[in-house]
Amino acid sequence: MNNFDEYLLKSFDKFKDSIIKDAMIYSIKGGKHFRPNILFAIIKGFGLKEEIAYDAALAIEYVHTYSLIHDDLPGMDNDEYRRGKLSCHAKFGEDIAILTGDSLLTHAFSCITNSNYNNDLKVNLINILSKYAGLDGMIYGQLLDVTSNHNVNSDELFLIQDNKTGALFKYVCLAAMYLSNSNNYDYFEKLGSKIGIVFQNQDDLFDVIKTEEQTGKSNSDLRNDKITALSFKSVDELKKHISSLFDDLRTYLNDAPFNNKYLLDIINIMEKR
Ligand code: IPE
Ligand code: IPE
Ligand code: MG
Ligand code: MG
Ligand code: MG
Repeated sequence: MNNFDEYLLKSFDKFKDSIIKDAMIYSIKGGKHFRPNILFAIIKGFGLKEEIAYDAALAIEYVHTYSLIHDDLPGMDNDEYRRGKLSCHAKFGEDIAILTGDSLLTHAFSCITNSNYNNDLKVNLINILSKYAGLDGMIYGQLLDVTSNHNVNSDELFLIQDNKTGALFKYVCLAAMYLSNSNNYDYFEKLGSKIGIVFQNQDDLFDVIKTEEQTGKSNSDLRNDKITALSFKSVDELKKHISSLFDDLRTYLNDAPFNNKYLLDIINIMEKR
């Protein structure tokens, strides 16, 4: 367990004891923390300590976990396995899972308001969190994900991936920008998009080529007849495409307004997963 893991679990102490608290803690455990780690890597690249980003990182881990709980519900992807154990609704029931997701989403914002950040920073973080978690971001992507049919083209696939997955990475990169008093919104937003796209392409690939033991979750894209990266490419083509996306991301990082070595380390770990 590292310091952020402890900080994350400790953040639940403030909640009143209830089955929702139990379900929040159950569900938050076991994630890879890619989003927090990307935030910390950029922060360190700015010469700052990762701890200053902990509250902004809590918020994204809460929102991300809520998105997974709702994504797994019977009315969505209908998946019973997540993070190496039963998904929230399979363990606690659908009613509790809906409320647990709602609770994580709502309290993500209090992770920011209860932080020591100055008020301008809080407002900026809340703004980008609601923008990219909401209908300008993740919710829009999930909407396209559940309503698209196989007439879509690869541009529309990009729109699905960029919103359902890219959006939370945009929050992460922009949160790093605000926390470090930097600017260049466009650069950081595009960085989040690029990370999200490569991440979701890998996720779509792994859904088919890895076992559920390896992914720790139900592999259900084929069962659900989803539009994924494999709707347009063979496994081999997709592997080559993913490797070109990683190359493009590394090239983009050559122009980063921060020391890119920490982020490059994470990108290289991502590529090997
Ligand atoms: C899963 O994200 C959802 C996608 C956007 C593909 P992660 O693979 O980061 O899930 P955890 O947090 O490690 O469980
Ligand atoms: C979900 O994409 C992205 C979210 C916004 C939760 P997927 O449906 O592919 O994620 P997994 O494979 O269930 O983790
Ligand atoms: Mg889904
Ligand atoms: Mg899913
Ligand atoms: Mg998936």
